[in-house]
Amino acid sequence: MSLFAIGDLHLSFGTDKPMDIFGPAWENYVEKIKEGFSVLTDEDVCVLCGDISWGLSLEEAEEDFRFIHNLPGRKIILKGNHDYWWTSAAKMNAFLEKHGFGSISILHNNAYEYGENAAICGSRGWFYEESKGSAHDKKLIDREVQRLETSLKAGGEREKYVFLHYPPKYGAYLCPDILRLLREYDVKVCCSGHLHAESLRMAFNGDWEGTKHLCVSGDGIRFRPCKIL
Ligand SMILES: [Fe+2]
Ligand SMILES: [Fe+2]
Repeated sequence: MSLFAIGDLHLSFGTDKPMDIFGPAWENYVEKIKEGFSVLTDEDVCVLCGDISWGLSLEEAEEDFRFIHNLPGRKIILKGNHDYWWTSAAKMNAFLEKHGFGSISILHNNAYEYGENAAICGSRGWFYEESKGSAHDKKLIDREVQRLETSLKAGGEREKYVFLHYPPKYGAYLCPDILRLLREYDVKVCCSGHLHAESLRMAFNGDWEGTKHLCVSGDGIRFRPCKIL
């Protein structure tokens, strides 16, 4: 059993959003995703770090979920800024159950046990800088910090592996509130996505205050899920 992560699949089976306009990396990206997942087995777990489907509702995202469900392994999904279909956990779980998408689980104010001693935790995160952010941004980051802490607490005494959509550190930017939580809960690895094309150059991959950070945006890792554990 292995733990993988990939962000930003940006699927659009039910909508009309050609992704190749976002650069050559996105040409035939659906085929690339299938090939990338072909190394996983059904024993494996892959966390999808947000920006999953362009669908505006669960109904519009149904074919994207079917595609994800048919990929090998158990998939744990979290919200990105483009996941407009995202709704309450109760509604999403009912939708997944109704369509038989049993290999997909929602990461939202909760955590999942992995193996003997690890916990999969996470939330969407947010870009926030005290000097530049608005009051609205402050509210959003506070809520995200709360969600992440709820998830970390749900992980109990296990070693924490955190998955976010927004990177808490990239280029010269730092998100102090999220980084504080990673430190407080002694988080081993923090994966995030959101960055694409040119902005991938600002992605931070390395150790920061005891946590290993990894950018797992689909186009940054050639749509091959990144092995975490
Ligand atoms: Fe994003
Ligand atoms: Fe994205």
